[in-house]
Amino acid sequence: MTKGARRMLATMDRAVAAWHIPVVGRAKGRLIRRLIDRHRPRRAVEIGSLLGYSAILIAGSLPAGGRLVCIEVNPFLASLVEANVAEAGLGKRVKVVGGDALRAIPFLPGRFDFVFLDAVKEDYLDYLRQLEPKLTAGAVVVADNTGIAGKAVAPYLEYVRAAGGGWDSREHVFGDDAMEVSVRV
Ligand SMILES: C[S@@+](CC[C@H](N)C(=O)[O-])C[C@H]1O[C@@H](n2cnc3c(N)ncnc32)[C@H](O)[C@@H]1O
Repeated sequence: MTKGARRMLATMDRAVAAWHIPVVGRAKGRLIRRLIDRHRPRRAVEIGSLLGYSAILIAGSLPAGGRLVCIEVNPFLASLVEANVAEAGLGKRVKVVGGDALRAIPFLPGRFDFVFLDAVKEDYLDYLRQLEPKLTAGAVVVADNTGIAGKAVAPYLEYVRAAGGGWDSREHVFGDDAMEVSVRV
């Protein structure tokens, strides 16, 4: 991970712990970093960015030349993400798109090999279905909060876990929460 990303995440870790802000955090962040180290994605997209914590984590861990697109519906938060990403020295790697993901995804150009889903839990399956034509073989999709939002994400989990559905999917448990990691086969 880049030095700037590490420095910025340490600052944010202190702030989000004090203010109870729902960012992905260190433990789940370690899994995301391991996945990026293993799969070496080049073009990532994140749905739901808040302050830019996960954006800095992902962009700071991508291999050289890697790029991240963040979609954040709240305009104030979208500008905060841009500022925090720049502060971490990652401005050139990250593009922030302000707006509702379900409206923005169809207009994203190119293909993606890493996805982080962390916006409206009931919409995870719709995000994925919209992204699917833009994903490469071997693309990795990480869905957060599949433990605490189990009911809301049930259709999503049923879809990625269906036999023969084109996904190799596995749950990673973190206390009372979980993340679902699905690889396009
Ligand atoms: C849990 S927070 C994201 C935390 C962030 N991924 C992190 O770990 O640092 C969820 C974010 O999704 C955004 N969001 C909610 N609905 C959205 C939508 N329809 N499109 C894009 N972003 C949305 C919210 O504004 C909020 O910032």
